[in-house]
Amino acid sequence: MHYMGSKNKIAKELIPIIQDYIDKSGVGIYIEPFVGGANVIDKIRCERRIGYDVEPYIISLLTALRDGWVPPETISEAEYRDVKARKENYPPELVGYCGYQLSYGGKFFDCYRRDKIGKRDYCREAYNLTAKQVPNLQGIEFAVKDYRELTDISGAVIYCDPPYRGAGKYTAVGGFDYDYFYNWCIKMAAKNTVLVSERWMPEGFKEIWHKPVKICLDSGRSAGLEKTEKLFEVV
Ligand SMILES: C[S@@+](CC[C@H](N)C(=O)[O-])C[C@H]1O[C@@H](n2cnc3c(N)ncnc32)[C@H](O)[C@@H]1O
Repeated sequence: MHYMGSKNKIAKELIPIIQDYIDKSGVGIYIEPFVGGANVIDKIRCERRIGYDVEPYIISLLTALRDGWVPPETISEAEYRDVKARKENYPPELVGYCGYQLSYGGKFFDCYRRDKIGKRDYCREAYNLTAKQVPNLQGIEFAVKDYRELTDISGAVIYCDPPYRGAGKYTAVGGFDYDYFYNWCIKMAAKNTVLVSERWMPEGFKEIWHKPVKICLDSGRSAGLEKTEKLFEVV
C-alpha cells in the first residue's frame, strides 16, 4: 500500500530478518504497534498477527479491504477535494483510501497524485496496488490504538516502525515523545522480542541491519535524499 514511511522498498531484506526471530523463538503472536499501510505485516507468517495504529482512517481502510470492500476504480481530483473537505460525509475507508492511496507520497491528503501531462493513471495504479495487497491482509487483526496503551503483552515478537525522528508528521499524530518510546521498548523487551526500524536509537538498542535508500517524504521538499534504514533490537 502507498503510505508515507512505507517499508515496501526494503521489505525484501527486512522480512526474512523479522521472520527469523518468529521462527527461531517459535512464538505464536506477532504485533505491529505502528502498522501504517501494513506493508510489513502482510508478508509475515505467524499464527496470530495484530496491527495497531493511532490513525483511525488507515485502520478503517485496512479492515474494510480485508473484509471485502472494493474501492472505486477512479476518483477525480474534484471528488478527492470534496472527500478531503467533508470527511464526515464519506465512509472512513473511502476517506482513508483517498487520503493515503491517492495522495502524493502516501501522505494524508498532501495533494492529489497526477503528472503534468496526464500520461500516468495514478488512480488505476493505486487501485491495482491495493487489489494486490488484499489477499495478504486476510487473517490480520487490526485495531486503532496508541502504542502507549499496550502494556500487557508477553511472548510476542513486536516490530515497531514509528514515525522517524525528524521526518514529516502523520495526521492524527501530534508530537511523538521519543524518550517515552525508548523506555516503552525496553519495558516490553522484558517479556517479548522487540525490533525497531529507525535511523538512530540510544544506548540499550543494538543495530542488527542497515541499508542506504532513497527517500521521498512529500510533494517537493525531500525528493532524492538518501538515508540509511536501520533495524535495531533491544539488548
Ligand atoms: C512509518 S509509519 C508505519 C509504516 C508501515 N510500517 C508501512 O510499511 O506501511 C508510522 C506509523 O505510526 C503511527 N503512529 C504514530 N504515533 C503513534 C502512536 N502513538 N501509537 C500508534 N501508532 C502511531 C502513524 O499513524 C503511522 O501510521
